[in-house]
Amino acid sequence: MAKKTIGILTGGGDCPGLNAVIRASVRKGIAAYGYRFRGVLEGWKGMMECLWEPLGVEEVSGILPKGGTILGTSRTNPFKNNEDGGDIVVENMKRMKLDALIAIGGDDTLTVAHKLTQLGVPVVGVPKTIDNDISHTDYTFGFDTAINIVTEAIDRIHTTAESHNRVMVIEVMGRHSGWIATYAGIAGGADLVLIPEQAYSVDDIIETIEKRHERGKDFSIVIVAEGFKPEGVDDYVISSGGKDDFGHVKLGGVGQLIAEQIETRTGFESRVTVLGHLQRGGTPTAFDRVLGTRFGAAAIDLVHTGEYGKMVSLQGKKIVPVDLEIAISELKMVDQELYDLARIFFG
Ligand code: F6P
Repeated sequence: MAKKTIGILTGGGDCPGLNAVIRASVRKGIAAYGYRFRGVLEGWKGMMECLWEPLGVEEVSGILPKGGTILGTSRTNPFKNNEDGGDIVVENMKRMKLDALIAIGGDDTLTVAHKLTQLGVPVVGVPKTIDNDISHTDYTFGFDTAINIVTEAIDRIHTTAESHNRVMVIEVMGRHSGWIATYAGIAGGADLVLIPEQAYSVDDIIETIEKRHERGKDFSIVIVAEGFKPEGVDDYVISSGGKDDFGHVKLGGVGQLIAEQIETRTGFESRVTVLGHLQRGGTPTAFDRVLGTRFGAAAIDLVHTGEYGKMVSLQGKKIVPVDLEIAISELKMVDQELYDLARIFFG
C-alpha cells in the first residue's frame, strides 16, 4: 500500500514552539506509522497556491529550540472574498497528493480548518497563540514563553521606574483577552493590570495611581493589554494599516494614551514601553517545547485514528481531542478569580 502523505501548515501570527510541534508530528509519524510529510508553506497561502517542500527527519533536525516556524506563515484566509476558496483547497489537496492535513494555528486558522472539514477535507488542528485565548485547552504553547519575556521586561523596567520616580506603562499583546497582561502582571508585581475583560475608566486608573503615591510609593508599574479600551474613551489611536484577511485591525496606542492621561492629570512623570513582537520571538521555554511536542505527537495519532475535525488540547495533565466546532465557538477569557488575584496588589 502507498505511504500516506500528510501536510503540515502553520497559520496566523507565529509563536515559539511551532517547530516543536512540526518536529514531533514528523518524527512520530515516520517512526510509528510510516507516513510521508509535506511542509505546506506560509499557512493557508500555501494551500491556495500549492507551495510546499518535503519534510523528513533531516528537515526537522535541530529545529526544537528555534523560534518562529520553519514553514513560514501568513494571515491568508482562503474564504475571504473568494467563493471558491474552499474548493481550491480541496483541489490542491489532490494536486499535492495529501491524504490529511495538520493545521497549527490560532482561532482564525482553526476556523478555516473547521470550514474545510465541513467540505470533507481531513484536517486535525493544533492550537497555538501567545495570547492563550483558545477555548477548551488549558494552555496554548507560546504563552509561557511570552509571559517569561514580559516578566523579565517588567523586572528591568521596575529598577529604572524606582530610580526616577516614574509611572511606567507597559503595553503587551492580547487582542481580545488579557492573559499575558494578567499572568506577567502577577509574576512581575504590577501595580495595575488593564485588560479587555475588565472595565476601567481613566478616572479609575488615576485613582489607583494616586492611592499608591499617597501610601509613599513614588513609582508605579502599569501593564496594559493592547486590546484594552478605557471606559468612556472611544477615539484612542490604533496604529494605521487597515485590517488583515480576518478583519482584525492592527492594535497599538492604548499604552501611550494611558501614560499621557496619567502624566497630565497627576503630574507624575510617565513613560510607555510597547513590547510588541519581542513577545513572540526567540527560543521557546522548556514548557512550550514540551507542550508543543505533546501536541505534535497527539495530532499525528489523531490522523492515524482518522479523528478529523478535532484539535488536540491540554486539559489538566492530559492531551485530549476536542471538536474544532466546539473549540472555535468562543474565545477563552481571563477568569475573574485570576484577575482578583492580580487586583490584591493594585495601588
Ligand atoms: O494573535 C497573536 C498576536 O500576537 C496578537 O496578540 C496581536 O494582536 C497580533 O498577533 C499581532 O499580529 P501581527 O503579527 O500580524 O502584527
